[in-house]
Amino acid sequence: MTTSNIKVLSIFGTRPEAIKMAPVIKKLESCPDIESRVVVTAQHREMLDQVLATFQIKPDYDLGVMRPGQNLFDVTEAVLRGLHGVLEVEQPDMVLVQGDTTTTFTGALAAFYCKIAVGHVEAGLRTYQKYSPYPEEINRVLTTQLADLHFAPTLKARDALLQEGIGADKIFITGNTVIDALYMAMEQPFSLDFEISRAFRENKRVILLTTHRRENLGSPLKDVYLALRQVLLSHPDVGVVFPVHKNPAVRREVAKVLTGIERVYLTEPLDYLPFINVMKKSYLVLTDSGGIQEEAPALGKPVLVLREVTERPEAISYGTARLIGTDRRHVEEQVNLLLDNEEEYLQMANAVNPYGDGRAAERIVQAIYAYFGTGDRPEDFSP
Ligand code: UD1
Ligand code: UDP
Repeated sequence: MTTSNIKVLSIFGTRPEAIKMAPVIKKLESCPDIESRVVVTAQHREMLDQVLATFQIKPDYDLGVMRPGQNLFDVTEAVLRGLHGVLEVEQPDMVLVQGDTTTTFTGALAAFYCKIAVGHVEAGLRTYQKYSPYPEEINRVLTTQLADLHFAPTLKARDALLQEGIGADKIFITGNTVIDALYMAMEQPFSLDFEISRAFRENKRVILLTTHRRENLGSPLKDVYLALRQVLLSHPDVGVVFPVHKNPAVRREVAKVLTGIERVYLTEPLDYLPFINVMKKSYLVLTDSGGIQEEAPALGKPVLVLREVTERPEAISYGTARLIGTDRRHVEEQVNLLLDNEEEYLQMANAVNPYGDGRAAERIVQAIYAYFGTGDRPEDFSP
C-alpha cells in the first residue's frame, strides 16, 4: 500500500446502517487518495434501497441476501458466504462496518478471516444484557473483539471500550454519523404522501410510532398498540402516524390491533427525508428504534422508548428521552402524561444533541489516515 492508495471497503445491509454509513461513504469518495468500495449485503431490500436512492450511493457489490421471514442463521450464513468472494477479489486495506446488526458482526468476522483490518463505526454501545436488545448486544460485543479501530460516538461508549481492555490509541470519539446524515438531509426538499398530510391536517397533535425490535415481537407489541388505542379514545385531538416496518412479524400484530382504527395512519416505511420531517412535525415520538433515539433529541422531540434498557443513555440523562418498556398500562400512563401535562412535555422537548456535531464522518476518515500513518489523530468530539 502507498499513501496514494488506501482501499476502504464499507459493508452494510440494513436501513439504519445505510443511513449512518452514507456520510462516511460520501467523505471517503471525496478523498483522492482513498479508493472507496461499497458492498451491500441487502439483509434488507426495499428499506435499504430507499436509503441508497436518497443518498445516491451505488454499491459495487450487492449480495442480495434478504429472504422473507429470514432467521439469524439464514442471514449469517448468506452474508459470510457472499463476502468471502468479494474480499478475495477486492483485498481492501480496511473494512468498515457499522452498528450491531447481523451484517455488522458477520462483515467483521469475514474481514478477520481474511486478516483485513476492521473499523467499527458506532462502537462501544452497551446494555450489558445478553438478550436486550437481541441479538444486537452480543453482535456489538463480538464486533469489538474483531475490530482494529473503534469509532465511539460518545464518551460513555469510549469508556465502555476502555473497560473491556481496548487500547485508548485504538478508540476515537467521533460523534454519531446519524447526526451528519440528519444535517445533510434536513436541507433537502421532501414531499409527504396523501395519508401523512391527512394525519397532520386532521389532528392537532401527532404521535410518531415505530416498532421492530425482535424482543418486542408478539405480545409486547400487541400491548403497546392496545395502549395507544386507549390513548386515542381519551384524546380526540391526537393522531398516530405509524410507518410499519417490513418485518412480517411486526405486520401481523399491526393487522390484528391497529388496522381500521380511527386516527391511526398506517403507511409503508417512509423515505428518510419525509421521515425526519414527519418527526420534526410530530408532537412526540414513541419507538423501540436505536437510531430514532438519537435523532429525536436533535429535533427537540420527546422520545418514549419502548424498551426495558437502552444502550443510548445520554438522551435519558439530558431529559429528552424516557424508558417506558411495553407494559400496556404503563405505556398508556406515560403517553397520557406527556399529552396532558404541558410542564412535563416542555421539560422533555429540549433540542439537545449529545450524539454528534455533524463532523463524525470527517473524524472517522482522519482516524483511518492516522491508522495508515498518513495523518494526525483527529480531535475527539465533545457535546
Ligand atoms: C434488522 C436488524 C436490527 C436492526 C433492524 C433495522 C439483525 C438481526 N437485525 O432487524 O438490528 O435494528 O434491521 O430495521 O441484524 N423485510 C422486508 N424488506 C425490507 C426489510 C425487511 O421485506 O426491506 C422483512 C423480510 O421479511 C425480512 C424481515 O423483514 O426477512 C426481517 O428482516 P431482518 O433484517 O432479518 O430483521 P429486522 O427485524 O429488520
Ligand atoms: N427511518 C426511515 N423511515 C421510516 C422509519 C425510520 O427512514 O419509516 C429511519 C430513521 O430516521 C432512522 C433509521 O431509519 O435513521 C432507524 O432505523 P430502524 O428503526 O429500522 O433501526 P435501528 O436504528 O433500531 O437499528
